[in-house]
Amino acid sequence: MPTDDTLARRRPQVGIEFDLEGPVDLVPDYLRRVYSWAYLNPIGRAIFDHPVVVSAILWGNYRRLIETVQEEIVPGSKVLQTACVYGEFSVRLAETVGEAGSLDIIDVAPIQVEYCRAKLKDFRFARVICCDAVDPPPGPYDAVCCFFLLHEVPEDYKRRIVAAIFDRLRPGGKAVFVDYHGPHPVHPLRPIMRAVYRWLEPFAKVMWSRDIESYAPADPALTWTKQTYFGGLYQKTVAIKAP
Ligand SMILES: C[S@@+](CC[C@H](N)C(=O)[O-])C[C@H]1O[C@@H](n2cnc3c(N)ncnc32)[C@H](O)[C@@H]1O
Repeated sequence: MPTDDTLARRRPQVGIEFDLEGPVDLVPDYLRRVYSWAYLNPIGRAIFDHPVVVSAILWGNYRRLIETVQEEIVPGSKVLQTACVYGEFSVRLAETVGEAGSLDIIDVAPIQVEYCRAKLKDFRFARVICCDAVDPPPGPYDAVCCFFLLHEVPEDYKRRIVAAIFDRLRPGGKAVFVDYHGPHPVHPLRPIMRAVYRWLEPFAKVMWSRDIESYAPADPALTWTKQTYFGGLYQKTVAIKAP
């Protein structure tokens, strides 16, 4: 579990040259192998870090999916976002949390941390921290938002990230997962999404057949609900930890 001291040491210093792809020991192998084009270089950001582009990738559902997260967040609460997201997601979340609360955003890629810090510079209650989602800051948090992270990580990471989320959630707190989900059998985008996963997102297809709940440690204190969107292609899964 990172202490404030280790977090500070991991944080790239502003104004000092650093390896944009991040220290070898922190950026996981799958991220370098599969997603460096998207997340570990400035070209990825130049292409993708615009709401209109993310919205196109999500077939026009970006705004709606952000709103489904905002609906779950109580203003003034202490919130963790488990990875940076291109576009406006973090700013909208910060607006919802408000200055009576706090927002910690983590990401394992230093370059993403720097971009997100720039986006959130006007939100003094938001911290952007370089660390792995399998080992987030101690919290405890009132709410944790995991927005389109699980489909991008291998199975063992899915399990470890979900376990870490519940470990950092306070009793009475809420975990909100928004991610891909199995679309309706006659959904016209099925073949397209299958091809996208095969080509670019090797850890995503399993989201069609496995519930997020199945990655969590069995815990009777957790109450799960799931809602799907856009013909089932997307899901919001919420788990509330009993007080
Ligand atoms: C949230 S996901 C995908 C979100 C969405 N596709 C978008 O438009 O950005 C992307 C982020 O997850 C980060 N990431 C991947 N694995 C991670 C991990 N184990 N811990 C923390 N961040 C991670 C990547 O560095 C990247 O910034």
